[in-house]
Amino acid sequence: MVYTLTTNRYFNQQPRVPVPYMKVNEKQYRTIWPDPKNNRQICIIDQRQLPHEFVIETLTTPEQVVTAIRDMHVRGAGLIGATAGFGMFLASLQAPEQGFTAYMEKFAEILGDSRPTARNLIWAIDRVLTAIAHLPDITEKRKTAFTTACAIADEDAQFCKQIGEHGLEIIKEISRKKQGAPVNILTHCNAGWLAFVDHGSATAPIYAARDAGIPLHVWVDETRPWNQGARLTAWELQQENIANTLICDNCGGHLMQHGMVDLVIVGTDRTTHTGDVANKIGTYLKALAARDNNIPFYVALPSSTFDWKLDDGMKIPIEQRSGKEVTTISGKDANGEITTVTLTASGTEAANYSFDVTPARLLTGLITERGVVKAEMNEIHRLFPEVGLVT
Ligand code: MRU
Repeated sequence: MVYTLTTNRYFNQQPRVPVPYMKVNEKQYRTIWPDPKNNRQICIIDQRQLPHEFVIETLTTPEQVVTAIRDMHVRGAGLIGATAGFGMFLASLQAPEQGFTAYMEKFAEILGDSRPTARNLIWAIDRVLTAIAHLPDITEKRKTAFTTACAIADEDAQFCKQIGEHGLEIIKEISRKKQGAPVNILTHCNAGWLAFVDHGSATAPIYAARDAGIPLHVWVDETRPWNQGARLTAWELQQENIANTLICDNCGGHLMQHGMVDLVIVGTDRTTHTGDVANKIGTYLKALAARDNNIPFYVALPSSTFDWKLDDGMKIPIEQRSGKEVTTISGKDANGEITTVTLTASGTEAANYSFDVTPARLLTGLITERGVVKAEMNEIHRLFPEVGLVT
């Protein structure tokens, strides 16, 4: 349990205040937490404002949660799941006594459609629905929705920490071979603290290696069109004093050919139980380049990202977002104002496929909370035997 307890106004029990690992301006934060003064409110970091402004936003209604996920105030696999858990809790507060279940199921459907590729979203919604289904009393259902949402967030933070411990062994081995010279790690998008509740998935081994005193340096793909790498990962690593260099999306192959990348670690938004991985658009090309250059390519994920029913990555629904994210770009202007400018001729048609699928055969392994495993169905199931084959 990572929360400490102080006074509560809602359930006449102690609300939970996070005690996190990651720091912003030397202060520790999780990416989501129940407001310690009012458990009917959930606090998030509005990631649209980063890296220029650090803004904490309060969510009080389930509709606000849908907007926050769909419009990417919060994003990233684990954090989408944790936010969905709290969204279900806020929905339970709003659900009428008569028709409680129908209201919750309808809201679950709307929430589930907000980011189609993210597996953690559906997983978290189902977890809350299952936890409250058998309870006869509405107050009990609301309490359980809250404790389940908190458990999802706690577990996400804990699993990412464990991913860090397992991934550390991979970095240690490379560092040993390099006789202590800095290990160069390339990452795509943001599978960092900001994409989870704490630690991150792809970044957890990096933070663990830093804590173990291993010299390292991170190549950060900018990750057009939303620029999660440029805006979030570079900032996040900077906050943690990890040496990093921002590169444009097309640079990785060149660096790999010149021996400047020792290891690639990325995250994933949905992974089939056969080991195919959907991650931010452009990941597949990095995996191809890594294979051509014999560079280990790992995907880090908590088990909540597995889709136990899907056996073919090509069946993963790929989110398509507005073409405006491609034809425009946002940043800070000379007056310090955050502004959006258009890059293209008016009327330019743009397609915005948000994710691509990297087949299991291109992966060196998956780093999970239970250990590192080959991206193969039998190996994955051996690590998670309780799941069994789901049809
Ligand atoms: O569209 P996003 O920002 O929600 O996409 C998620 C990601 O940041 C990446 O795909 C990430 O590498 C996997 S999420 C841990």
